[in-house]
Amino acid sequence: MIITLPSFAKINWTLEILGKRPDGYHELRTLLQTISFADELTFEAIERGIEIRCDHPDVPRDETNLVHRAATLFGDFTGAGKGVRVTIKKRLPVAAGLGGGSSNAAVTLLALQKLWETPLAPRDLFSLGARLGSDVPFFFIGGTCLGVGRGDEVYPLADIHAEYLLLVNAGIPVVTREVYANLPELTNQKAVAKMPLSLEAAYATIAASSEPIQLHNELEIPVLARHPLLLEIKERLRQSGARGVLMSGSGSTVFAIFDSDQARSGAQNDLSQPGWLCEPARTLSRAEYRHTLGC
Ligand code: C5P
Repeated sequence: MIITLPSFAKINWTLEILGKRPDGYHELRTLLQTISFADELTFEAIERGIEIRCDHPDVPRDETNLVHRAATLFGDFTGAGKGVRVTIKKRLPVAAGLGGGSSNAAVTLLALQKLWETPLAPRDLFSLGARLGSDVPFFFIGGTCLGVGRGDEVYPLADIHAEYLLLVNAGIPVVTREVYANLPELTNQKAVAKMPLSLEAAYATIAASSEPIQLHNELEIPVLARHPLLLEIKERLRQSGARGVLMSGSGSTVFAIFDSDQARSGAQNDLSQPGWLCEPARTLSRAEYRHTLGC
């Protein structure tokens, strides 16, 4: 049996750090969104072992690859002693704030349930996903979600729609762990002031279906300070007519929202240059996401 699936990217409409937790992670409140830009993963049953094929120079093919880790975890948990060859067509930039590795891991868990004929209870699927990375559980739901906890506790919200997005990545790799490690000291006052307000984010998405959403990412503070080029990209996108511009996740991809295809094409022409990704995309609703992945 061979299964081929897209592995979609995400952006964060908002990301707030509520505090530092005893386990070293940061308590988050974030609005996540699946978008149309995707890798492609092909799963092929083999006799035994886990084999990763990918011709992208920045993607490891050994057991450090999140797809490899997902397949190992799934095999250990279910006892399904079968093999798989996964071919990754990498289109998303790596270490870019678009959730590429997490999405690949989530799609692997979804595909292996079918390939190895071993369905998981939803509770187990989410818990295996969270062990692989904070963003992984979101990719079992898709659309617009509120993420709290490490970002791994996800709640579906009313879909936000944006037809004319442009993603810009200047090839600056950003290591998520280092971004969190370089955050300014958090005060408990701030955490306490924000902690009970999760519903505010939920209400914000209902309002956002008719009004422009308030884009806000607190991880921009350390990342833009370290990489001033990102400030320049944001400014150039604004000057090219973008209605909103924000860094996604821990960066370094910046996304912009435009009002028309024409405005977006203009910006794409203005910003395109060798070595940069300048990719048009749109939001992917939860229904569309789940239909495409069959989950
Ligand atoms: O969960 P994930 O492996 O994607 O996280 C990568 C790193 O980012 C973690 O090791 C941690 O240092 C940091 N992180 C954090 N708080 C979060 C999510 C990630 O401090 N909520």
